[in-house]
Amino acid sequence: MRTENEQTTYLKDYKPSAYLIPKVELRVEIEPKLTKVTALLTIEPAEGTTPDTPLVLDGKALELTSIALDGAPLGLDLFEAGPDGLTVFSPPSRRFVLETEVMLSPEDNTELMGLYRSNGVWCTQCEPEGFRRITYFLDRPDVLSTYTVRVSADKTLAPVLLANGNLVESGDDGDKRHFALWHDPHPKPSYLFALVAGDLGAYRDAFTTASGRHVALAIYCEHGKEDQCAYAMDALKRSMAWDEKRFGREYDLDVFNIVAVSDFNFGAMENKGLNIFNDRYVLARPETATDADYAHIESIIAHEYFHNWTGNRITCRDWFQLCLKEGLTVFRDQEFTSDERSRAVKRIEDVRGLRMAQFPEDGGPLAHPARPAQFREINNFYTATVYEKGAEIVRMLATFLGETEFRKGTDLYFERHDGDATTIEAWLKVFEDSSGRDLSQFGKWYLQAGTPTVTVEEDWDQESQTYRLSLSQHTAPTPGQPDKQAMAMPVKFGLIGPNGNATEWSSVSGGTVTNDMIVLDKDRLDLTFEGVSSRPVASLFRGFSAPVRVVSKASQADRLFLARHDSDPFNRWQALQDAAMTLMLDAVRNGGQLADKEATSALATALGDTLENDNLDSAFKAHAMALPSEVNIAQALAKDVDPSVIHSVRRDLLKEISTQLSHKLQDAYDALGKISNPYSIAAEATRARALRTQCLALLVAGGEAQSADLARAHYADTDNMTDRMAALGAIVAAWTPDAQALLDDFRARFGSDMLVYDKWLALNASAPDDKCLERVAAIYASPEFPKSNPNRLRSLVGTFGMTNVAQFARIDGAGFRFVTSFCRDVDGRNPQVAARVLTAFRSWANYEPNRKAAAKSALTLMATAGGLSRNVSDILTRTLEG
Ligand code: TRP
Ligand code: ZN
Repeated sequence: MRTENEQTTYLKDYKPSAYLIPKVELRVEIEPKLTKVTALLTIEPAEGTTPDTPLVLDGKALELTSIALDGAPLGLDLFEAGPDGLTVFSPPSRRFVLETEVMLSPEDNTELMGLYRSNGVWCTQCEPEGFRRITYFLDRPDVLSTYTVRVSADKTLAPVLLANGNLVESGDDGDKRHFALWHDPHPKPSYLFALVAGDLGAYRDAFTTASGRHVALAIYCEHGKEDQCAYAMDALKRSMAWDEKRFGREYDLDVFNIVAVSDFNFGAMENKGLNIFNDRYVLARPETATDADYAHIESIIAHEYFHNWTGNRITCRDWFQLCLKEGLTVFRDQEFTSDERSRAVKRIEDVRGLRMAQFPEDGGPLAHPARPAQFREINNFYTATVYEKGAEIVRMLATFLGETEFRKGTDLYFERHDGDATTIEAWLKVFEDSSGRDLSQFGKWYLQAGTPTVTVEEDWDQESQTYRLSLSQHTAPTPGQPDKQAMAMPVKFGLIGPNGNATEWSSVSGGTVTNDMIVLDKDRLDLTFEGVSSRPVASLFRGFSAPVRVVSKASQADRLFLARHDSDPFNRWQALQDAAMTLMLDAVRNGGQLADKEATSALATALGDTLENDNLDSAFKAHAMALPSEVNIAQALAKDVDPSVIHSVRRDLLKEISTQLSHKLQDAYDALGKISNPYSIAAEATRARALRTQCLALLVAGGEAQSADLARAHYADTDNMTDRMAALGAIVAAWTPDAQALLDDFRARFGSDMLVYDKWLALNASAPDDKCLERVAAIYASPEFPKSNPNRLRSLVGTFGMTNVAQFARIDGAGFRFVTSFCRDVDGRNPQVAARVLTAFRSWANYEPNRKAAAKSALTLMATAGGLSRNVSDILTRTLEG
């Protein structure tokens, strides 16, 4: 089914551009229905380009209306304009100016790439290859230009006219029109270009940088929602201050603008000086946004801001290097949140996210290295592997080097590569040079796909007082990579003695071991610790120091011991997860019965003790009280997965825990009410709400009518969305008798607020009841459902396919068929969203035979029907080929 428009691009084929475009002058005349773009490109041959080398510019869906070279119209025989671009056959072998004029129809642009209209607002999305939908250009990240942009539009339709950089001039343009002239002095690749024109409100503030630059800040949004931008603005100012302090990075323009739009394919975009955001990551007020929404806003605002240095000032040479900017910038935003909030809780949240999204990707047919070597469609590589595993690789580097050495390296990176379009190799080289270490083996993390499994064997010998610890690593084959090599990873660790404190050893042999870190850089490491006077319990991979799966024979007793005594909060949480996971896996393999009553009760006791431990913070406890998800369990089983058994086992364990702890849960719930109310986004209240609602969810999972009553009251008697959503989420997850009625009530309460509608859609799609699919399909088919908005589509069908494993993978195959036909339908309007939702099938080959056959037949049907976009057919082909 592979067609010619699915040609593969290879990293090994990279060649620098034959031409450069040092200067761009754009004139964008915005008009309803038809927008005219005039581009004056100052072009010059690159060093070594031979005369008469054709100039091949990218262009897509453009209508060329005029073309001139150095002011003279270009003869028809001297160029060719096709569906993929414009070729000038033999341009001058000196600097020249190419002028083109093209016409665009942004209102018909449903793909949301290039110039499009969202809610009446004209806006752009250029990363990775959207600029070619605006004008003919060398649309690749290693061609850097300075931009001057003149935007004009009707004064009433678009009183706000924005582009990158600083405002140079603005004024009347006749015929009820006006214009704005923007200049961005920083050379940038075309993917960072942006433009906005519309009738928008603004929330303004200012920031003065460490060296005294005064920066005007503004967040633009729909009129009437300005007050909902306050939190995002606060997060922006904190991000600016943090980047100065932690990385020595200052902002470099006089303005920083953010625009919130409601139709957006992604979370947000770091365009130079003009970030464009999905409005769900900007707008917030307590009545409609949850604490989690506030946290997301904070981290995405930070992420896009941090790109100004990691991405914009230093950009990528080619798209294979995407994780150079994304992995590093995710790492930076994670560090920001850790410093601003709680480091331990942030780490737990990130690892949960990694295991929910990246591990399944890495363990299935779509597995690819953080720095891929080939792609058919670059838009399909904005993945959890590139972003989140990319961040884990940077984190390991920071762990190996320690804070001071790591900062030395990043300082050198900014100094050496400012203004460059560079590579992963250059990034690693900076740290080799600054630290004097050889990072060649570590560098394999960027090149090898798949999650390594680290197997732990241990033995303590009383007589010789020696403790032996063996660590071996293995990475299973992934598509195109049958054989894997050992990678260097930091294993942060501690040995804990019977009294719960760190235990001493006199010497260690067999590898590189410091006080708190083992360097695992071979297939197998056999360590011998001498002078260990009692049997230690090992706490390994503290803080999740490497993105691996750990297999050990640790007993449930040792795990619960760690849960009580480990000085590393992450591993305390991990120990509880492991203990719960072991019980659930045993039950699944045991035909779905939780067999070991004693072990179940021991886990519940440990959870109860955690709940009552006054030394732990409430947000941590909330995570500690949560069981691994169904996705996690399916991932751990790896084969013969029956999602309905997984669902029922997990439900049964929740019920057991709830029953045993009901009094403690109720007491904690009552006590926390005094801290969590009245609503405030302050840390203490937020943490209290997290734990209180987790207690409520566990109570409801117990299945008692009085808990359902409590949840209903919690849902109804509140002024904030965090409590309301949490209560309704607990009710829906347990599918209590009034769940449907309360979903209806929620829908009625928040009628026209689309961001709240998204929450309702996601709740509907996440429910465990047998009517879930029918409900989701009916919502999608209903005339009121906005079928072209990415947020709506993802909230409904993305949630269903990615998280509701048992209903998506229904044994009759109806869930699979619904998602494939949905993807075909959406593909006609928005291939990027369709391709992303289709990745819900990434673990299809792990299902038990019946479901596996049903999934395969849904996918095959889709493939044979044909007519698919390159985005969707790339995902589909790889998913089926595995
Ligand atoms: N660079 C953006 C970020 O990570 C990602 C992004 C925004 C994007 N919009 C996109 C990627 C559209 C692909 C297509 O912050
Ligand atoms: Zn990013």
